[in-house]
Amino acid sequence: MNLSVRAVAASLIDEVARGGSLNTVYSDAENTVATGERPFLRELVYGTLRLWPLYKGVVRQVLDRPLKAKDSVLEAVLILGMYELDEGNTPAYASVSAAVDCCEQLGKRWASRLVNGCLRQYQRDRDAMLASLGESERAALPGWLFKLLAKTYPAQLEQIGRASKSRPPLTLRVNQLRMSREDYQVLLSDAEVASIDVGLNALTLVKPMPVNQVPLFEEGFSSVQDASAQHAANLLSITADMSVLDACAAPGGKACHLAERGARVTAMDVSEARLGKVTENAARLNLNVRTVLGDARCLSEVLANELFDAILLDVPCSATGVMRRNPDVKVIRTRADVEQFASLQLELLQSAWLQLAAGGQLLYATCSLLPQENDAVIDAFIARESNASVSPLPMTVGIDMRFGQQVIPSVDGGDGLYYSLLIKS
Ligand SMILES: C[S@@+](CC[C@H](N)C(=O)[O-])C[C@H]1O[C@@H](n2cnc3c(N)ncnc32)[C@H](O)[C@@H]1O
Repeated sequence: MNLSVRAVAASLIDEVARGGSLNTVYSDAENTVATGERPFLRELVYGTLRLWPLYKGVVRQVLDRPLKAKDSVLEAVLILGMYELDEGNTPAYASVSAAVDCCEQLGKRWASRLVNGCLRQYQRDRDAMLASLGESERAALPGWLFKLLAKTYPAQLEQIGRASKSRPPLTLRVNQLRMSREDYQVLLSDAEVASIDVGLNALTLVKPMPVNQVPLFEEGFSSVQDASAQHAANLLSITADMSVLDACAAPGGKACHLAERGARVTAMDVSEARLGKVTENAARLNLNVRTVLGDARCLSEVLANELFDAILLDVPCSATGVMRRNPDVKVIRTRADVEQFASLQLELLQSAWLQLAAGGQLLYATCSLLPQENDAVIDAFIARESNASVSPLPMTVGIDMRFGQQVIPSVDGGDGLYYSLLIKS
């Protein structure tokens, strides 16, 4: 039997809740759904995961006793059903009935009455149930993360929570080698694609659309890149033909931007599949980017004693600044992961530093909001490296932190990125 879109979505969400990575499980599941239904699948899965911690708090209230581990998919069915009731366009009775049908499709026919009863109770008592949620549940953030964020960003906490629940905007970076931002915006508008100028080379589409429908996208006139991520290449002072290493480069958004700004870019990544995306993007943009497969923790083994004028180190991180794009972060990430990322980040920074020429600049970037992966890593690094100093960023991109700046994510604005600029004496 072919599963309905909702049943595919529920089992996919359940896999994520049991520790699977959304990116990995999503593409397999997507292939089981008809092309025309894929946007709906995406909306259901991403939307539900963005609000997962909130609806977990509701499920706690509607169930008399917790579900058994072997029935965990029913939690996904319930949360998906609640999401649809609140955010979907389907009439409420049809959403409830579709959730009930999922039980049979997923081999849990016995749970049909339970799911029906819980969703009807939610419909009836919604306001009271939402009012009984705890602070972190209401913000749709896991408790451990809410606590850390509340400590660092008391004034921005609400904004962070709201941004994490929202659908992300689609922002383009105009390839300045092909066309100015102003001319490209006119070109989009002539094609009835409305956009907002959000500074530098960035245009945010008023209504997101598939990239292959964006005018002149395939021809390399623009790339998809969040507005906050577009700061990276502008925070390094680039002169023509300068050698720049992007040590964690895939899929190549920032590396290609650096090349568009005139740098001679070497793009390294540890993942061969992801490095292929850098090659694809550079080819589409007609840019010359050298790609190197390797582990940036031991750069010198791959690049010997080659030195670079500048290095971009956009490290793997908790992705807490980009939860609206990677909502599985809300479900699978733990406090212990943060410590693991922090030690990897310090290791990468120490390795990259050895490839930087004297007088060179290194931009450390993360898409994390957590000081453990940001200021604390820089702090530990400069305490050990006597030839490293922190330089003020050449422009304001976010709020001042001890060693850099933090962009706070917002509903209509960019993602939450951290930047710190180091100079080698
Ligand atoms: C935040 S992403 C980089 C995004 C990229 N800079 C962009 O703008 O498109 C981090 C990247 O680091 C890579 N990575 C993780 N560990 C690495 C390592 N030890 N050496 C090199 N790359 C690594 C991952 O494969 C991933 O592509």
